[in-house]
Amino acid sequence: MRLLVFNASPRGARSNSLAIIKHFLEGFEYSSREKPDIETVNLINERDDYAALREKLLVADRVVFAFPLYVDSMPGFLMEFFETLILLKGALSGKEFLFSIQCGFPETLNLRPLERYLVRLTGKFGAAYAGCICRGGMEGTRYMPADAPIFRKYRELGRIYAETGKLDPGILGEIANPEKLPRPVMLIASVLGRMGLMNGYWKKQLKKNGAYEKRHARPYDPTHLPR
Ligand SMILES: Cc1cc2nc3c(=O)[nH]c(=O)nc-3n(C[C@H](O)[C@H](O)[C@H](O)COP(=O)(O)O)c2cc1C
Repeated sequence: MRLLVFNASPRGARSNSLAIIKHFLEGFEYSSREKPDIETVNLINERDDYAALREKLLVADRVVFAFPLYVDSMPGFLMEFFETLILLKGALSGKEFLFSIQCGFPETLNLRPLERYLVRLTGKFGAAYAGCICRGGMEGTRYMPADAPIFRKYRELGRIYAETGKLDPGILGEIANPEKLPRPVMLIASVLGRMGLMNGYWKKQLKKNGAYEKRHARPYDPTHLPR
């Protein structure tokens, strides 16, 4: 069984997406009856040769796409790759597409519109939709230890997927928790936000990348175009 994994984070090998999916794959490999042939591709490093990746897709049985939410959608270069898959129309039937998506905001519901889109997209390619693992609040994941409870859940999900071919709905629900923050937590967050105590990490990131002064820029807003 050939499993092809696309990590479509712009951070490539240093990404949360890869750190997370590795645990799912560990569980999958552990419980597979025969040792699966797993290949992981960091899509960001392969943008010059999508044709070679399409060849890999053609010989894969199952395909996993792991990526972060970027501006309520997927990273642009993944969409670029998906658009080239139209060339394989008709040749993808029988292949299973599975998705692992995660985002920085804590509520998993941020990912649900994209999840619905991925169902439709898989259908357009004529592939079989195996499901979508969704989880919010994952920005710091790549620094977490391997025995973190959330990683255990991904391993368990992978294990059951190898045994049954299905994503366990109970574990999917546990991973997705919290779908929405409870009201009291929202209230506390809004007070802390007003006190400027919530954005320390992101401000540091903006400064590190020389973008702090541009944080209110709205380049596509016609009322804010430079004169
Ligand atoms: C340009 C950019 C846009 C982002 N947009 C969103 C977003 O719309 N919603 C959200 O919850 N997180 C957003 N995030 C946060 C990422 O989804 C989050 O940090 C994720 O864990 C990064 O995963 P990675 O290390 O695999 O790239 C964004 C991050 C960046 C850099």
